[in-house]
Formats: sequence, C-alpha cells, structure tokens
Amino acid sequence: MLRVNDPLELFARTEEFRGRGARVGLVPTMGALHEGHFKLVEEAKRLCDVVCVSIFVNPLQFNNITDFDRYPRDVEADAAALEAIGVDAVFLPRVEDIHPSPVNMHISTAGIVERQEGAHRPGHFDGVATVVSKLFIAAGRASVFFGEKDYQQTRVIADLIREFHFPVEMVVVPTVREVDGLALSSRNRLLTSAARKAAPAMYRAFRTGRSRAVPGSATAPVIDGMRGAIESAAREAGAELAIDYLEAASGVDLRPVERFEADTRFFIAASYDGVRLIDNVAVFE
Ligand code: PAF
Repeated sequence: MLRVNDPLELFARTEEFRGRGARVGLVPTMGALHEGHFKLVEEAKRLCDVVCVSIFVNPLQFNNITDFDRYPRDVEADAAALEAIGVDAVFLPRVEDIHPSPVNMHISTAGIVERQEGAHRPGHFDGVATVVSKLFIAAGRASVFFGEKDYQQTRVIADLIREFHFPVEMVVVPTVREVDGLALSSRNRLLTSAARKAAPAMYRAFRTGRSRAVPGSATAPVIDGMRGAIESAAREAGAELAIDYLEAASGVDLRPVERFEADTRFFIAASYDGVRLIDNVAVFE
C-alpha cells in the first residue's frame, strides 16, 4: 500500500493511475476507523479500480479545541487495517501539508449550513468544505465516498461539488449500525458505559417515530414521544444527556416540517456524558 503525505504527490500518483485507464476512488476520513469506514472502502472497491483513503483530523472543522484534542487517533492501526482490506493508497498529510495558511484562506459556506450542525457548531462546515476541496484537488478526477450518517455534510458537499465544478462523483453509503441500532462513529470509543447503554435509544426512538408517522399528520406529538423515550433511557442508564436538536425536517433543505412529507427525515444531535453523537433516518422508505 502506497503512503503519501504531500497533496501534490497524491495528485501525481492518481494521475499515473488515471493515465493507465483506472477509475480512482477517494474515501476521506478522520481516522479511528470502524466498520462504517470499511463499508465506504468496500463500496469504493466495488466501483473503482484504485482506492485511496485519506486520514486527516481537520482542525478547521472543530469549533471546540477540547473536542479536537480528544478526537480518537490511531494512525498505525488504521493503516494496517486498510492494507489488510486491500486499499491501494493512504493519504496521511500533516496539518501544514494541508493548511499552510488556514487563517488567510478558506471556503465560506452559507444556506443549508445554517441549520442543525452548522447552527450548533459555528464554522464547522467552512472547515469541512475547505478541507474536502483540498482533498478533491489532491485526488483529481475521482469517485468520492461519504456516509449517510453525516447527512447534512453530504448535502453541503453535493453543493460544493456543483458550485466549484469539481470533477468528482459522490457516492453516499448507508449508515452502518451496531446490533442495538447505535450508528457507528469514531466517537463511540469515547462513550462511558452508561452512555453506551443509553445511546441506542436514539435509533429505537427513530423506529417508534417511523411507526407512528403518517404522511400529512403533525410531527410535533411524534417528536415529543421520541424525546421522552430518549430522555428516560438516559435517566435509567445514569448517563447525562443534552439534546442539541431532535427534529423532523426536509431531506432536501433540512427545514423542520410541521407535517410529515414523503422526504421527511428524523435528525438528532445529542451529547451523552459529554460525547456528542449525531444520527438520522428517512421516515418513509
Ligand atoms: O466525515 C468526516 O470524517 C470529515 O468531516 C471529513 C469528510 C473527512 C472531512 O474532514
């Protein structure tokens, strides 16, 4: 497996592959890899001839320095796991390789970013859009793979690709879950045992919400019931819970909706014992 640190070298290497007629796949990650990432790689291997995984904990997208400092990192274990599943190249830039002068130049986002994650994490999507643009430039023409768990991120990146004419095609891969329904996330490693016990209530609530949702009916009573179930599970497990948002919103522009529509999704962001998790599902599938 090829290891590359320099963005220009990555571009040169992927150009070589493209020159031989290969279709290149890029899987951007922040490391601390889990089955959700491996699913992205699996999909990339299915659709592409050459697969590159980037591992870079991007400081620009953390609005909270403590969150950045304690984000899990295990680059050697990640690289070994990627080699074992047949990844062709791993891109491991240092901060200065990617952001030589981050204060001077970055992408400024607006619109859909003002909701949900963007509303609770100021500057987050500017940081994501900036780093993702740099990764796209380094990888060149490619298929790029992102997880549906970060639904708003996939919408922002779709806008970014369209707006800047990046020669990439985005593939969104469904969320991978533990058997109890908890969405896989690198942050799950940070959960206390009480938090780990309580957090699957989010997905259970999604399922209950789905069973109660009827097209055209009011979303508020359904959301209230979901919130109650999530709160009581946290109380029972002894985990401290803070819900940033729990809402039924449009899957297109993420506006909260008062009545269920065909494209409505449930979205949640909640901290369990200080570890912030997000999840979402389509209400009608
Ligand atoms: O989803 C992530 O892991 C990150 O936001 C990404 C896309 C790798 C950008 O840093």
